[in-house]
Amino acid sequence: MARITASVYTSHVPAIGAAVDLGKTEEPYWKPLFEGYEYAKQWIKDNPPDVVFLVYNDHASAFSLDLIPTFAIGTAAEFEIADEGWGPRPVPKVYGYPELASHIAQSVIQDDFDLTIANKLPVDHGLTVPLTLMYGQPEEWPCKVIPFAVNVVQYPVPSGKRCFELGQAIRRAVESFDKDLNVQIWGTGGMSHQLQGARAGLINQEWDNQFLDRLIEDPAGLAEVPHIEYVREAGSEGIELVMWLIARGAMADVVGGAKPTVKKRFYHVPASNTAVGHLILEDN
Ligand code: DHB
Ligand code: FE
Repeated sequence: MARITASVYTSHVPAIGAAVDLGKTEEPYWKPLFEGYEYAKQWIKDNPPDVVFLVYNDHASAFSLDLIPTFAIGTAAEFEIADEGWGPRPVPKVYGYPELASHIAQSVIQDDFDLTIANKLPVDHGLTVPLTLMYGQPEEWPCKVIPFAVNVVQYPVPSGKRCFELGQAIRRAVESFDKDLNVQIWGTGGMSHQLQGARAGLINQEWDNQFLDRLIEDPAGLAEVPHIEYVREAGSEGIELVMWLIARGAMADVVGGAKPTVKKRFYHVPASNTAVGHLILEDN
């Protein structure tokens, strides 16, 4: 059977991707940030997933105000790198896993979560920056990736509770796939940031760190936090953090299993306009 073995959480700031692509990782501004991901790069070499179920948000690259799916699962065999205005990032194409993605869609939709099926889904920095942070600059990404896009851009956005429950449904779906696969689930975006308006530049380190504490220790309680608190405390784009609850909901302890082990916790301010958070939780 397929198994979810770990969850990974990370911010996806586009300037991080540009820093790697332009060879700036050793510059004083960036060095401390990339040092925080050294552990992750070794860890993923030691614990290579067959598939990453990558929860992220599209930033008006694949979708626009014309069409706004709340949850979209990428079922294609390949995903192009989106052109976000400066040409596509120079990173390898993303290869999907149509058989598993379709199985998850079948299972999760029959479990009452209405997913949109995306057979064509150019992927933007929301997906490629986490891959870069974990894998660096390989010729090919060493695993299959199932992109799972969540609308956190245009209101109304899904609640933390809905995301947490969806994570549980994704775990059930993966565990009912009849093939031996090591699957990781990644929750991306955040942490506190606001890119526009009077509060542009907002960062709330205290709230972010409480979020990390609660994500580890009390995810069910954290899932009750209403979206308005994310916006008030973590800025208008801080709402991206609800996506972390999808990944956390897929861990074993949520359904009575053992607590996950915290393999890495990292927090860094700032990267561009954003507080960067990163966690690795391994299931036991
Ligand atoms: C920034 C952060 C984001 O999450 C994003 O999608 C775009 C920009 C930033 O901090 O610059
Ligand atoms: Fe973003």
